[in-house]
Amino acid sequence: MEDGARGDDGQSLKGTDKTENFRVRLMTTPSEFSLLFEWAIAEGWCPCVYDAESYYKQDPTGYYLAELDGVPIGGLGTVKFGADVASITQYIVKPPFRGKGYGYRMWQEVMKTIGDRNLFLESAPAQRSNYEKSGFKSSWQTIRFRGVGRTDDDHAVNNAEDRVTLVSVDKVNFDDFCAFDQKVSGVSRPTLLKSWINQPGSINLVAVDSIEGIGQKREYRIAGYGCSRLCYEGYQSTSFSRKIAPIFAESSAVGLQLFNALVATVPPEIPFYIDVIDVNENAMQIVSEFGLESISSITHMFTKCNSVQQNMVYGVASCDIGF
Ligand SMILES: CC(C)(COP(=O)(O)OP(=O)(O)OC[C@H]1O[C@@H](n2cnc3c(N)ncnc32)[C@H](O)[C@@H]1OP(=O)(O)O)[C@@H](O)C(=O)NCCC(=O)NCCS
Repeated sequence: MEDGARGDDGQSLKGTDKTENFRVRLMTTPSEFSLLFEWAIAEGWCPCVYDAESYYKQDPTGYYLAELDGVPIGGLGTVKFGADVASITQYIVKPPFRGKGYGYRMWQEVMKTIGDRNLFLESAPAQRSNYEKSGFKSSWQTIRFRGVGRTDDDHAVNNAEDRVTLVSVDKVNFDDFCAFDQKVSGVSRPTLLKSWINQPGSINLVAVDSIEGIGQKREYRIAGYGCSRLCYEGYQSTSFSRKIAPIFAESSAVGLQLFNALVATVPPEIPFYIDVIDVNENAMQIVSEFGLESISSITHMFTKCNSVQQNMVYGVASCDIGF
């Protein structure tokens, strides 16, 4: 397998240091992706259970494994969206091998494979200065909030009026759905979206401002959408938590309506997470009024331009890929 390992520009990444048998190679199977996601669980990042497969579908030539004497010691993902955009994700070296130069060597090798794309990532506080050295600029803080499924709806944030109708994603045209997502995320990602909404256990709601002709004449307008996916709480947990991701909405009222509906689907006592960006004050107000607890904060970074419509983000779609 190693002899065929190549970046998407066809460049081999093999044999970076012969004396140590350190090399960086393309991951070629979903199970290799899963290995990296296991390390992400150990870091406490709570990745979604089926996201490894979703990213693999989006970009089968995007994830790399660092090996020392044939043993995997680290990984790094680059989820590419066409020729212009890529997300850098899951930059991990196993703890005993940290601080020895392997991570940065892997990073430098992998960066050669992604061309001149505009890059996004979400940075842990300790890594921000490194990414700045590598050409990334900071934008907002992404704040992770944690809640627990309730047994009643007393805690829903009061919404003066529910302005839109929430329907299952299969009731709207998929191209319309993708177009709305692109308006907010700034990228075209139908492959990833299709995989996300088909994940086992996912709930996918679309806010439409008219249901006339749904499924027939398409006489409706999409005003937002929101999803919930199963995610890992940790190795010890006996059940999966929920990640409410994303909530994209054209207004605070629609964002709140989606938030209330998705939180209501979380089973009692089951933890859930939502990642909110500090620059969207309306989104911050919703989680604050609901009484959610903030548990961590990371920095959204990019290399060229940030095309995400921040005023429409009420929940980030994925902290792995940044939007
Ligand atoms: C982040 C991580 C992958 C770095 O790997 P590592 O093997 O420990 O790092 P290295 O030993 O290769 O670092 C060597 C040097 O390169 C720097 N460096 C590492 N990655 C870099 C990057 N992407 N850009 C610029 N510099 C970088 C380091 O700061 C270090 O600098 P120093 O010698 O001045 O101290 C590793 O520490 C890790 O797995 N941490 C936990 C997971 C995590 O937080 N990942 C990042 C999420 S945003």
